Amino acid sequence: MRVTFNVNGRPQEADDVWEGESLLYVLRERMGLPGSKNACEQGECGSCTVRLDGVPVCACLVAAAQVQDRDVVTVEGLADYAKDRAAGRCGTGACGTPLGEAQKWAAKPADGQTGESTESGDLSPIQEAFIDAGAVQCGFCTPGLLVAADELLERNPSPSDQDIREALSGNLCRCTGYEKILDAVRLAAARGESVTAGEGV
Ligand code: FES
Ligand code: FES
Repeated sequence: MRVTFNVNGRPQEADDVWEGESLLYVLRERMGLPGSKNACEQGECGSCTVRLDGVPVCACLVAAAQVQDRDVVTVEGLADYAKDRAAGRCGTGACGTPLGEAQKWAAKPADGQTGESTESGDLSPIQEAFIDAGAVQCGFCTPGLLVAADELLERNPSPSDQDIREALSGNLCRCTGYEKILDAVRLAAARGESVTAGEGV
């Protein structure tokens, strides 16, 4: 079957999708978007988290047929998504991330070496905060955490620690504790508040 849906704000088609194929498989193997990670394939780890019509979901648990005519945002489109949101632009049409760009998305090498914030537009605020707070280790869980944390801050710009823990409770990190991950979300929230207050970052 053919599945037509929006990926990172742009219309895409996947052909010859078999019944029961997961959204995660379509994204990784058919669309060439490996940002959503495949770890448990059982909805346990959150490594494959994407947004489906704005709601964070485990892509491994969503059947490809379920996304017909719907909107999916993956970590590869997160920077543009955040930029469009900040500018009050729509998530479709002229906005979003073309598939080719999403397939080639990579943080600039200097980001990982220096830990410094990047030029505006290269990374979303939550991605910058993860780097600045040292919240990325092996990185396997990071894409899912970024998508979930970005959605939290969109919904609740000033989350409590309890709010953050709750929002990220479906995302497992095998590398260490979660303190730096929590720090990263706190940092992104604080930066967002200072921007809102007109104080700059
Ligand atoms: S791979 Fe989907 S939740 Fe683990
Ligand atoms: S950073 Fe390695 S699993 Fe989370």
